[in-house]
Amino acid sequence: MASPKPSAFAASVVPKAPEDPLFGLMAAYRADPFDKKVDLGIGAYRDDHAKPWVLPVVKKADEILRQDPDLNHEYLPIAGLANFTSASQKLILGADSPVIAEKRVTSLQTISGTGAVHLGALFLSKFYNTKGDKEVYFSNPTWANHQQIFSNVHLPFKTYPYFSTQTRGLDFDGMIAAIKAAPEGSIILLHACAHNPTGVDPTQEQWKAIAEVIRARNHFPFFDTAYQGFASGDLNRDAWAIRYFASQGFEMVVAQSYAKNFGLYGERAGCFHFITSPGSDAVDTVSRVDSQLKILQRSEISNPPAYGARIVALVLNDAALFAEWEENLRTMSGRIIEMRKALRSKLEAAGTPGSWNHITDQIGMFSFTGLSEKQVLAIREHAHVYMTKNGRISMAGLNTNNVAYVAQAIDKVVKEVQ
Ligand code: LMR
Repeated sequence: MASPKPSAFAASVVPKAPEDPLFGLMAAYRADPFDKKVDLGIGAYRDDHAKPWVLPVVKKADEILRQDPDLNHEYLPIAGLANFTSASQKLILGADSPVIAEKRVTSLQTISGTGAVHLGALFLSKFYNTKGDKEVYFSNPTWANHQQIFSNVHLPFKTYPYFSTQTRGLDFDGMIAAIKAAPEGSIILLHACAHNPTGVDPTQEQWKAIAEVIRARNHFPFFDTAYQGFASGDLNRDAWAIRYFASQGFEMVVAQSYAKNFGLYGERAGCFHFITSPGSDAVDTVSRVDSQLKILQRSEISNPPAYGARIVALVLNDAALFAEWEENLRTMSGRIIEMRKALRSKLEAAGTPGSWNHITDQIGMFSFTGLSEKQVLAIREHAHVYMTKNGRISMAGLNTNNVAYVAQAIDKVVKEVQ
């Protein structure tokens, strides 16, 4: 053998990257032997016994699939399962949407919401505003992965104010001013509902004003929707912002995930939608865009995985299963709302310094508690309660058995750690 050569991937070329904070937190929680430990980290639904919940409707669909003698393991088409993508359009846009009737939308099945955001980012990096300097604007804060996904396709990002630390609600004026000031034609990434990580959403009136400034500045809306039906328990209400923008004739994209609302986290079922404005060339635009999206998809994943999409398609296309799914959604969102109430009332009863109304005002999987990084680390060390460093808690990690323990731990850390 020739004499050993130094690697081409020296530390100066491939520096050691930090561990993903969220998945690192999950590993630390799992390794902790303490019996009362509480996981409020990753956004995954848990039942009242802190266990993952397979939705009963998913179990049913699974059984139907298993009994299907025609089921095989052939490749799906590049764009995915057709009755999954068509049902996904109806779910997010509304079955009677003119966008669908006028064939102004094309959709590809993706590797969950992350894959959909990536496909959109990749498409825009190649084809959007190719003359200008394109930039994407994220809410501050946003889901940490947004930054990595857009950086990977060389789209630089900036942020618009979103969360007010004073009110623990929306910094609406700051948001509007920043979107107004962004260079014309910027890409504006918006969370359709149940904003991650803050749990703070604009009101419908505020959404209208946001649409107006996006229109005036000729910006491009990019919606990320991971919590439809999971946030309020009402599929239509949680889709309101996207449907409103669509009704205003925006050209836009939507990244849709079924991880949370179907509990199909590991099955990676998602969908990417490109929607064009009403106009005589709409059908032609959609067909050209669709052809390029398929090339991107083919070069990256060839074709998407079948199992999760089959489950979703079965449920979305069957009235009885659909109704059962809505019931399951209400179970999840209802339990989370109960936990919000319980945590708030326990903190208030203990006289924990500060106001705690934001716990019940915020919506969806997460609450932004307002705990500082120092307090987060202290509560992890002393009480074995795990949450992300920005003070975000996954509400689904709370249950009737641990909410008093968590409230006590928060009370202690707020009183003792400044
Ligand atoms: C979260 O923010 O906890 C989830 O969306 C999971 C993830 O992939 O980051």
